[in-house]
Amino acid sequence: NSKVKGLIVLFGATGDLASRKLYPALYRLYKRHLLSDNFAVIGTARREWSNDYYRQVVAGAVNNLVDDQAECQQFVSHFHYVSHDATDLAHYNILKAKMDELEATYETGENHLYYLSTAPSIFPKITKYLKEANIVTKQSNHRVILEKPFGSDLASAQKLNDSLSDTFKDNDIYRIDHYLGKEMVQNILALRYFNPFIEAIWNHHYIDNIQITLSEDMPVGTRGGYYDKSGAIRDMFQNHILQIMALVGMTLPEHYSPESVHEAKIDFLKSIPSFTTQQAEQCTVRGQYQTNDNNVVDYLKEPEVDANSTTETFLAGRIRVNNERWQGVPFYFRTGKALGEKYTTVQIILNPRVYKDEETEVVPDSEKPRLTFFIQPECGVQLYLNEKQAGQDLRPQIQLLDHDWRKSAQYVEEPYEKLIYNTLLGDPTYFTTWNELREQWRIVDSIIAGWHEINHSKLDQYPAGTHGPKQAYNLLERYHNEWIDLD
Ligand code: BG6
Repeated sequence: NSKVKGLIVLFGATGDLASRKLYPALYRLYKRHLLSDNFAVIGTARREWSNDYYRQVVAGAVNNLVDDQAECQQFVSHFHYVSHDATDLAHYNILKAKMDELEATYETGENHLYYLSTAPSIFPKITKYLKEANIVTKQSNHRVILEKPFGSDLASAQKLNDSLSDTFKDNDIYRIDHYLGKEMVQNILALRYFNPFIEAIWNHHYIDNIQITLSEDMPVGTRGGYYDKSGAIRDMFQNHILQIMALVGMTLPEHYSPESVHEAKIDFLKSIPSFTTQQAEQCTVRGQYQTNDNNVVDYLKEPEVDANSTTETFLAGRIRVNNERWQGVPFYFRTGKALGEKYTTVQIILNPRVYKDEETEVVPDSEKPRLTFFIQPECGVQLYLNEKQAGQDLRPQIQLLDHDWRKSAQYVEEPYEKLIYNTLLGDPTYFTTWNELREQWRIVDSIIAGWHEINHSKLDQYPAGTHGPKQAYNLLERYHNEWIDLD
């Protein structure tokens, strides 16, 4: 791991994401000596803050990571605040002057990173003005990181991408999907890559079905204004779920490089057919949470949510992949707010051997061998294998082979820590390319178009604190599968 230097310009410096994720991520890198002393951050936003106040905010945001106050003071001294109206071209001259000054003071070199953590509606304006004010020129080393949402459908995403491409080279655009920065999400590829025997069974001959669960216990809370326009399909499926699915389903490239990984993911996403209206109706389940009298109110009563909203807070579905490797293997997914527990798992359910003398040929998924990736809150991989039941007969019994990361003292990086560092190094492997996003939106748009055709008629209520609507269980039952729940 090498030390990086650079100048980071953060738009939206007074925002929630900056305090919750970005400042702590930078501090972790600093503590681990991955960020050299030749770095500076310009925080910008509309509010009139002083440098001193800004540094107090940054110090407050990293407070629980500090074990040496002097080190923390040293860290925050690299932060500078510029009050800036991002929609006013004249302000970019002030920004440019500050950038020149700090580049000289900190000897940051020509490594510039623009972090757009503002309302997405002003992304195009910011990048346009960065170019018009001669801050970003295509010759020098400038990268931009964008927070989601990247568009609200394919057409708007395309428009946004076009406007970014006017200022930045495509491989300098880092579209963040923070799930790709999670250690265990990256481990999906690593496990396949480093264990050829696993890759040998990674196909329809050995895999029965795949289940991806992103369960969240928190309700929508204060984010109703944003969420009601997005729903689970745009908030979680379009990005995180499809990206995890791509890492599971893609063909492993012979040589590992950012380009080869991206190409393999695009090929996989392209092999997911757009949904027909009938498939959107039959292969998805949409739900909305209701109060459980336990601190959670009905979704329809959440602040800034339309009282007649038909936005889904739960989504489950079944995807067929149209290629040789995955012939006949369903990819199931589910995600929801206000469910019983916060966890993310990927279950690779393997084909069982069916015994002639068994009463039924249908083996429940919970009794099939399986490989489980625990992505969060704990990291881990578990393998369940069928062994012989003790006794005279040759009968299978499912048993756990366990590797629990909690038991090994490895440092697990935070997603933003990993991803910001990768950007400063110019490594785009775990970011989404435009071609991937285009395929993701194509799939999502086809599902939403199907729902519009059927008038959003299927919206199933579920009590908060549960596993979601029972219709999500019925969906799998129809295909003789069952969700593997954690409890
Ligand atoms: C975000 C969504 O992308 O991911 C949120 O907008 C969601 O609605 C969050 O809560 C989940 O991320 P994590 O890392 O907490 O699982």
